[in-house]
Amino acid sequence: MNKSYLDYFLKIRLPIILFVALASLTFTYYVSRAERDGVGYAPEQPIPYSHKLHAGMMGMDCQYCHTGASKSRHAMVPPLSTCMNCHTIARKNMPNIIRLTQYYNEGKLMPWKRIHKIPDYAYFNHSVHVNKNIPCQQCHGNIQELDVVKQANSWTMNNCISCHKNAPELLANIPGIKKGPVNCFACHR
Ligand code: HEC
Ligand code: HEC
Ligand code: HEC
Ligand code: HEC
Ligand code: HEC
Repeated sequence: MNKSYLDYFLKIRLPIILFVALASLTFTYYVSRAERDGVGYAPEQPIPYSHKLHAGMMGMDCQYCHTGASKSRHAMVPPLSTCMNCHTIARKNMPNIIRLTQYYNEGKLMPWKRIHKIPDYAYFNHSVHVNKNIPCQQCHGNIQELDVVKQANSWTMNNCISCHKNAPELLANIPGIKKGPVNCFACHR
């Protein structure tokens, strides 16, 4: 590198490179932040599936569909075969059920929009919480009253930790509930 190039690099190129890098980091940070911390986020879904109808009025158990909740890290959105347990018959002539059946018959996944999401570097596990009898509604709000799912709580580190510290008081109606962990490695593994 000759001196004038080095000079040009340090005074002009380098600041531009740093500026672009910083700007794109900031952008990614705020965009992903908005997605994962979206209280009130209620995207329109490809089929207007209603929790109010199925889990509220028909009283279906949450875990009939979200089978992972007591067994694994993810509660999981059900496959279309779960819907077809009923919809090969129920309302099969309605336009949305015809569409549902088409997706199912073609073996396609329904492109449901993901709502709740914490970043990959943090660890959350449904089964630990659900098996301690913490109700879904404690974290997700009254989903069974909603036609369209809406994020009720913000999943910042502070929110996780404030329940972990205060669980025995906050969840006093659950017998034998203990505090959750507050050490960094419990949630950052
Ligand atoms: C008949 C099946 C079924 C039942 C029963 C059901 N759900 Fe769901 N749930 C779904 C489907 C399908 C989606 C994805 C579409 C949507 O968001 O509406 C979903 C989405 C969700 C989401 C959002 C997932 C995300 O992307 O963040 C939550 C939270 C949820 N359900 C909680 C519950 C709770 C709590 C109950 C019980 C009160 C329940 N569900 C009962 C089928 C069901
Ligand atoms: C246990 C049976 C059962 C399961 C499982 C079930 N549904 Fe339903 N669903 C019904 C019944 C019954 C109705 C009609 C209720 C009414 O209108 O009184 C209905 C209504 C609907 C409707 C409204 C249809 C219309 O236009 O009238 C949609 C959309 C729907 N379900 C989607 C789904 C999806 C998506 C799943 C799977 C995630 C699912 N359902 C799982 C029983 C079920
Ligand atoms: C202690 C709080 C808490 C409880 C209790 C809880 N959830 Fe969740 N749920 C979360 C968090 C946090 C996420 C985002 C997790 C992630 O990004 O990995 C989530 C995500 C979800 C999702 C979408 C992603 C996935 O993991 O499959 C569904 C569906 C869901 N929850 C349903 C339920 C149901 C049904 C119950 C009750 C049986 C329940 N949750 C209980 C906090 C909770
Ligand atoms: C109960 C679970 C939990 C514990 C304990 C925990 N964290 Fe976190 N942490 C999270 C979650 C969830 C996020 C992502 C949500 C957010 O950005 O607030 C996070 C985000 C972070 C971030 C990114 C900050 C940001 O704003 O994007 C850092 C750094 C971090 N944690 C460090 C720590 C350290 C250091 C400790 C120990 C003193 C710790 N965490 C303990 C759950 C936890
Ligand atoms: C409503 C209260 C509540 C909220 C909100 C909550 N937790 Fe917990 N969590 C608990 C309790 C209570 C325990 C301890 C259960 C026990 O061992 O008795 C626990 C345990 C855990 C554990 C230990 C798991 C193990 O393997 O032992 C992890 C990790 C964890 N929580 C992560 C999270 C993260 C990440 C969040 C936020 C996204 C969160 N929790 C939000 C109540 C909560």
